[in-house]
Amino acid sequence: MTTAEHLPTTSARSASVGGPVLAPTSAVAAAAARSDELPLPTIDSVREAAKRIEPHIRRTPLLRITLDGRHAVLKLESLQRTGAFKVRGALNALLAHPGPGHVVTASGGNHGVAVATAAGQLGLPATVFVPRGAPEGKTRRISAAGARLVRHGETYAEAAEAAQRACADTHGRYVPAYDDADVVAGQGTCPLEVVDDLPEVDAVVVPVGGGGLVAGTVLAAQGRTVVAVEPEGSACLHASLQVGAPVDVEVDSVAASALGATRIGQIPFAIAAPSVTSVLVTDDQLLAARDLLWEEFRIAVEPAAATPVAAWLDRQVPGDLPALVLSGANTDWRPL
Ligand SMILES: Cc1ncc(COP(=O)(O)O)c(C=O)c1O
Repeated sequence: MTTAEHLPTTSARSASVGGPVLAPTSAVAAAAARSDELPLPTIDSVREAAKRIEPHIRRTPLLRITLDGRHAVLKLESLQRTGAFKVRGALNALLAHPGPGHVVTASGGNHGVAVATAAGQLGLPATVFVPRGAPEGKTRRISAAGARLVRHGETYAEAAEAAQRACADTHGRYVPAYDDADVVAGQGTCPLEVVDDLPEVDAVVVPVGGGGLVAGTVLAAQGRTVVAVEPEGSACLHASLQVGAPVDVEVDSVAASALGATRIGQIPFAIAAPSVTSVLVTDDQLLAARDLLWEEFRIAVEPAAATPVAAWLDRQVPGDLPALVLSGANTDWRPL
């Protein structure tokens, strides 16, 4: 990872609450320049990934909804194995380069569950570093999948630094959470299912953490509008679009265990910056969207996964038939 200036969260906030923002020309130019140097996946990489991981994942369903006369489609990726889309990228990364070795990663939670599960399935030992505040519902699932769990640091970035050091010391195999061509291609298989199953969808709306899902969505959407949604308090893509390069942000959001990357990945940024529409929602909006999904449709999701619905309810999403990706449901189930 490279270093960059520190951008206060408040400047990330100011630009776009109340309306979508397209990448400024400087961001487009900067991303285009970088894309010459980076190993960027393409739509073909996404299609290859889909074939590769197909035996191991669920093809998750679409649900058409109408609310106050407006139509949308929900992609129920919350029903994916491991409880989130992340298993797609983890499987693709491991299957694209098969081989023995100790698998190491860092994660706020869902990527760790995904890598632990994918490694276990392939018979590989795995160690997952998580920040100390990672939710119990996620750490329990990492251990249950058979991986060694190491708690380190306060943020994802701190956990990732320690994980990379440990990986180098043990000659392990590091699976990045988002800044990796195979991971991006794997995540793109989720939106690819959306547009293959329902080509009339005219926009695809996804949450953004480190950007693997949104980058895969840009590749898979084949010209449709892609809306990238972030919490106001954890908006690394939004801040980076404003300055034209990946920059660090502070993170303070109820969705931080999933969307708490302090900096957008370089590969995701190079792919997404030229075309993505970036919008922000507040924590109150995303929690209200999560509760509405349960009250209206009996769909349970974790806070991060409700951000596309929050942006749609707030009328920040263009299009007549947007697909809102419900990216995960690793939350705790506490019935009476
Ligand atoms: C449920 C959920 N949604 C969205 C994201 C964001 O994904 P990405 O880091 O690829 O942007 C994550 C990341 O962990 C997640 O767990």
